[in-house]
Amino acid sequence: MTVAGSVPEPRPESRPEPGPEAPWWTSSVVYQVYPRSFADADGDGVGDLRGITSRLDYLQQLGVDVLWLSPIYPSPQDDNGYDISDYQGVDPLFGSLADLDDLIAQAHARGLRVVMDLVVNHTSDEHPWFVESRSSTDSPKRDWYWWRPARPGSTPGEPGAEPTNWGSFFSGPAWEYDEASGEYYLHLFSRKQPDLNWENPEVRHAVHAMMRWWLDRGVDGFRMDVINMISKQLPLTDGPVAEGAAHGDGAAYFLGGPRIHEFLAEMHAEVVAGHEATLLTVGEMPGVTVEEAQLFTDPERREVDMVFQFEHVGVDQGEGKWDVLPFRLTALRESLGRWQEGLAKAGWNSLYWNNHDQPRVVSRFGDDGAHRVRSAKLLGTVLHLHRGTPYVYQGEELGMTNAPFAAIEDFRDIESVNHYRHAVGLGEQPADVLRALRAMSRDNARTPMQWDASPNAGFTTGTPWLAVNPNHDEINAAAALADPDSVFHHYRRLIALRKSEPAVALGDFTMLLEDDPVVYAFTRRLGEVELLCVANFSGDPVRPAVPGWEEWLDAPLLLGNVAGSVGPDLVAWEARVLRREHGR
Ligand code: NOJ
Repeated sequence: MTVAGSVPEPRPESRPEPGPEAPWWTSSVVYQVYPRSFADADGDGVGDLRGITSRLDYLQQLGVDVLWLSPIYPSPQDDNGYDISDYQGVDPLFGSLADLDDLIAQAHARGLRVVMDLVVNHTSDEHPWFVESRSSTDSPKRDWYWWRPARPGSTPGEPGAEPTNWGSFFSGPAWEYDEASGEYYLHLFSRKQPDLNWENPEVRHAVHAMMRWWLDRGVDGFRMDVINMISKQLPLTDGPVAEGAAHGDGAAYFLGGPRIHEFLAEMHAEVVAGHEATLLTVGEMPGVTVEEAQLFTDPERREVDMVFQFEHVGVDQGEGKWDVLPFRLTALRESLGRWQEGLAKAGWNSLYWNNHDQPRVVSRFGDDGAHRVRSAKLLGTVLHLHRGTPYVYQGEELGMTNAPFAAIEDFRDIESVNHYRHAVGLGEQPADVLRALRAMSRDNARTPMQWDASPNAGFTTGTPWLAVNPNHDEINAAAALADPDSVFHHYRRLIALRKSEPAVALGDFTMLLEDDPVVYAFTRRLGEVELLCVANFSGDPVRPAVPGWEEWLDAPLLLGNVAGSVGPDLVAWEARVLRREHGR
């Protein structure tokens, strides 16, 4: 990224026209489905595979290229499927392997690739590997997980006797005491999600074999859950304790550990090599820095195609995700701009606002009241015009909003429910905890997909596992499809633009207006073509201080969110994408 004082002249080092060497996913858009909340075909209140298959035409109409399925494997559902008890099956809740084969075949018939969630930092405690590991200290699989004795000098099972002081992501300690063997096992997430020990080569081989099995079944890649946590720094030791915190922070021991690049390169060599041209790999990496991401995604290093980083979805969070801060556009720009710059020469960005773990972006960085439609379109425009591969999370293309959760009983997510219990137990006011949950709870993303205005939004004929957002009478796919000005059709145009205008996928990126509190602007440049994306993140009109704005006003509008808008001022939440060609 360069923060330019003037519109840059064509630069000799600008990338050439895209050649056949640009990977397919640079001009692709991925759509994430959270199966339990997408479409319920059998009326049990939980979404399923046949429900997803019945909606593939909708995805085709939107124009996306890849379908990423959150976990559908057998699971006790402690963390909605991110606790897997069989990597090579389908949970009856979602259907059968035959249903999955059918979904893959029908997706492929529509030109849609299918990417599976790969959750191998941990298994379920009900996975046969863990059941075996737990059965005895002599088990041949004992070393497949992280077993440790109590802290020296402590009484096993007593508070504070855990082998290290680390807290888990879902509240409480990251170690669970196993009375039968008198040892503890590590679980960075829930106690039903024991961490696998990747130091053990048998674990790695078993994971590689399982991945190859899925490729043979026709899947087109993997989204790798918290994959930068698989290498631990040894010995496992106490982490620093923040003031007032109940537990220490073990991040230095499990984020981006010493063997992470080796493990990912090995996985690539064992599973992906030879299929690079058709597969997509994306590593979810909390806490990853731009510098590390350069290494992870540099094609020469053969690790992963792209990573999910978390910086830009932390700009409204202070000490942890429940410390909700006001949104500042300058912080968002600083972060996204640095990532654009950092991965400009080698590596590649993934671009996302939403997923199943994040609150709805229109409620978070937009205006989900009077300007919902326009601000949802603005957010889509800004994201999709960055350099990288955009991810659309189900319902984002409708401008779905956060949910009006009234009480703790309305939440289902283990993270939210545990946090409430824990925080209130420590003396926080319930109303304050609820306020934070309303803003940041993952359940905001998980309310059922809003297909139509009928009582359960067309999601199910049964009782939905999580209440449907009451605003589905207005915000739903049927209404959006029928309205050419809807958020859906705007997303459809954005996705089409990526295919028709090579500068969207491959152009260089230059951030403008470094300190502007409301206008977000940048250019993309590919050869002679230059695009300007300019967006007003506010409810008031503004004249953008973009260098050369007067000349830009003569350029054709490629895409905008306010019909017929041509003047020098942007109205509330207006976004424009303008195009010009140099040397003409
Ligand atoms: C990240 C996933 O996105 C999240 O939903 C899950 O709870 C954790 N990893 C643990 O698997």
